[in-house]
Amino acid sequence: MADDSVRSEAPDQQEKDDEGNVNESNQKLLSSNGETTTRNQTLSKRQRKKLLKQQKWEEERGLRKQRRKERKQQRRLERQSLKEEDGGYTQSARKRLCKEVTPSSLRVIVDCSFDNLMLIKDVCKLHKQIQRCYAENRRALHPVQFYLTSLGGQLKQIMDGKDKGWVNWKDITIKMEHYSEVVPKEDLVYLTSDSPNVLQELDETKAYVIGGLVDHNHQKGITFERAKELGISHAQLPLSSFVKMNSRKVLAVNHVFETILAYLEKGSWQEAFFTVLPQRKGAVAVEQDGTGSHEKHCESDSGSDTPEQTEKKD
Ligand SMILES: C[S@@+](CC[C@H](N)C(=O)[O-])C[C@H]1O[C@@H](n2cnc3c(N)ncnc32)[C@H](O)[C@@H]1O
Repeated sequence: MADDSVRSEAPDQQEKDDEGNVNESNQKLLSSNGETTTRNQTLSKRQRKKLLKQQKWEEERGLRKQRRKERKQQRRLERQSLKEEDGGYTQSARKRLCKEVTPSSLRVIVDCSFDNLMLIKDVCKLHKQIQRCYAENRRALHPVQFYLTSLGGQLKQIMDGKDKGWVNWKDITIKMEHYSEVVPKEDLVYLTSDSPNVLQELDETKAYVIGGLVDHNHQKGITFERAKELGISHAQLPLSSFVKMNSRKVLAVNHVFETILAYLEKGSWQEAFFTVLPQRKGAVAVEQDGTGSHEKHCESDSGSDTPEQTEKKD
């Protein structure tokens, strides 16, 4: 690398004649102090100044070399420490990712077959909820095998119009077909608040279906009916066993999805509900000693849900 300090400090070391040859007399002046003194007397003021400058330059040659060496060494150390910091960070982040992220084999399907039952504004809300599910799954410690089935109609139009990037979404299976054509029936469990069955734990070999519906409770029991028609298993989340709420127990699509992710991470339904449910749902923990006498209020909001993400109590 060029050393600027060398270039800028260096005086004209050699006087040249018209043809560019080095002036010999000046070279001699440099060779001995005695001669310099003699010749100094015959030199002009400008020449003497130049000569002194040149002598100083020569005297300090070793010092300059030493300084250059030191600067080079300093730069090398700086580069090395930056590299170590950067490399160390990347390495530890990568290590953390490899160590902690363990994908779950559990499948979660958002069934988008209710498209024609929704107004466009509700389809827009469903679109946001699906975006949220996708984002949460991408950053989860135990991401699930995420499926969207029966994609078409208004929802697809909105996705194509507002969020063209969906075609590049990773770690998701998007199908136009109905979920019953994608997954064997015996693996399916429809999640629906109307089911008399209460989910105790999640079975990693199953595919849990969430109804892709924003209906403000106008389509009561529709998913339960569909599950029965198809002859597949169904279950409701164990909300009543773990939390008391001041609103109905029908959750928005993304809250059901996020509860599953939180349960996979924490291994506790209560913690999962408390992490996900928004504060305005007024969730209060039901103590597991069976007395129900100690109630703990939900203090934390999921922080990021918008009114459209949790359905209103009718
Ligand atoms: C807004 S809800 C739709 C409610 C709709 N009337 C129905 O019949 O399912 C969206 C979906 O989240 C799931 N869901 C909501 N609350 C639930 C609960 N407490 N237990 C199980 N699944 C639930 C269901 O799959 C439901 O279809």
